[in-house]
Amino acid sequence: MDYQLTDERRSAIEKIKSLEVRNDDIFLFGYPKSGTTWAQEMIWLIVNDLDYEGAKVFIDERFPVLDSVLFRGNELHHKLELQCYSNVIGFVESMKAPRCIKSHFAVKYLPEEIVNGNKKPKIIYIARNPKDVCVSSYYYFTNILKVIDCSFEEFVEKFLSNFYWPSGNYWDHLFYFWNRRFEENILFIKYEDMKKNLLGVVREVSQFFDRILTKEEEDKLVDWLSFNTMKNNAAVNHNSLYGRDGFIRSGQVGDHKKTMSTETLSKFNDWIKKNTQNTDYQP
Ligand code: A3P
Repeated sequence: MDYQLTDERRSAIEKIKSLEVRNDDIFLFGYPKSGTTWAQEMIWLIVNDLDYEGAKVFIDERFPVLDSVLFRGNELHHKLELQCYSNVIGFVESMKAPRCIKSHFAVKYLPEEIVNGNKKPKIIYIARNPKDVCVSSYYYFTNILKVIDCSFEEFVEKFLSNFYWPSGNYWDHLFYFWNRRFEENILFIKYEDMKKNLLGVVREVSQFFDRILTKEEEDKLVDWLSFNTMKNNAAVNHNSLYGRDGFIRSGQVGDHKKTMSTETLSKFNDWIKKNTQNTDYQP
């Protein structure tokens, strides 16, 4: 997005950077459209002892998104008149432990106590194949937010040139946490693994939070997190925020194959190859 780094936004970002982090906080990071809402719901339920009654509250009020500091003046968010949007810092400060907090921000905008390692909250990073991230983003900006009016091919150009301020470059975002993935308080998960084996990821995340779920609890959670259930769940589908269906849109791995021309695909693959060669990361 072509946001300007206005003084107001600069000071909002400074507040994020100086946020007082607690060791019992839980942070979720991921590039926009990587399945972060899906991961939010999974994490929140696991750390809140599968409180399905509590999960009826809108997800952003249970698991606020720091990026909301930049949404001041955004009509969509104001319409709902929620403190998690109008004053996310105050909201986060007033939350009881364990605070679940999400952000898509680039590392340079994240709370400094996380980046300098002074505090060790539990951190989950979710990654998704950039081709599907790009397609999901295109539909989000054109159909849901309606802030972009361009062809998909034009959008790909923007994506490859890091248009996603304030998330910055896709690879910088991902590799920062990929390279820290062996730290005790950090867990790196992938959207594709959640699609292939949701139960496996639920177990991995439960273990990360020292929770043991019974077979019935696991089955219920996996069902609750299924695409159709999430799509019909008003607490997570964001229909009330956007005034329409489609935020939880297609939920597929490889969705880009339907949208990308051979030429675009080849450009994208070159970009992926260039950025992952000489690394141990498999997108
Ligand atoms: P698509 O647009 O490809 O369908 P985020 O929450 O980070 O903005 O990511 C949104 C993406 O996650 C969307 O991808 C959305 O459909 C997908 N998603 C959300 N819940 C899901 C679920 N339960 N199963 C699979 N995909 C899900």
